[in-house]
Amino acid sequence: MSPSPSQRPIGVFDSGIGGLTVVRALTQVLPHENIVYFGDTARVPYGPKSPQVVREYALQDTDVLLKHDVKLIVIACNTVSAVALDVVQKRARVPVIGVIQPGAEAAVAASKKKRIGIIGTAGTINSGAYTNAIRLIESGAHVSGRACPLFVPLAEEGWTDHKVTELIAKEYLFPLTLEKIDTLVLGCTHYPLLRDVIDRVLHHSVTLIDSGAATALVVQRTLAELGLTNASTLKPHLRFLVSDIPNKFTEVGERFLGHKLGKVERDGGWGA
Ligand code: DGL
Repeated sequence: MSPSPSQRPIGVFDSGIGGLTVVRALTQVLPHENIVYFGDTARVPYGPKSPQVVREYALQDTDVLLKHDVKLIVIACNTVSAVALDVVQKRARVPVIGVIQPGAEAAVAASKKKRIGIIGTAGTINSGAYTNAIRLIESGAHVSGRACPLFVPLAEEGWTDHKVTELIAKEYLFPLTLEKIDTLVLGCTHYPLLRDVIDRVLHHSVTLIDSGAATALVVQRTLAELGLTNASTLKPHLRFLVSDIPNKFTEVGERFLGHKLGKVERDGGWGA
């Protein structure tokens, strides 16, 4: 017997491991939803790649999730959300939610002075997607972006409270302090893990926005509006798929997800 529409899983995809921070946020607000996660670990990182390549990869990632009969797709990856939301929405026959719009809305709501900083991968920052989304909500907002590529390997290495990370964070964030920002969007899946060091470097004086957490709230609202919230109170099924061999994903992923992952399977034909 096939599951009722609301029991079908939410599909989440990312360039690799980082999207588990978004799964973590989703499970906090939607503890009964079944989730299928796909991480394109064979082709990560997406951040330094061209928009054309990221769009192509994003479509293939979407196809992996569609095979699993998902009821809604969350693009956990900021880089994909920034450059490929339109193509994914066109391909998927289900609602698609990216992380840029929810992050932008949360930042505008939080910022008193409307001076907002964005940090993310080179792809996300160069796309101007956050800046555009913020300016559509608040046309007079002052927005400054900064690519922080080294944060990704530091988070994966687990150096979340290391003096090297603090030094690099100071270097990256100093120009944003000159812009007198009062709010900073953590516009990359990995950055919530570095939240404490970023907060410290900014002297606890800037509001940090986790776009993954903001997205989870939008997913919760969207499911409710569409009558697709899973009414079951049984323990949900979380399924993890990756395109490369799962070893490192399993080890590092537990830190990103905040608890044990269980079984991780191989999917996506291109990693074999
Ligand atoms: N998931 C990516 C993002 O949020 C970071 C890692 C990558 O560069 O692929 O932009």
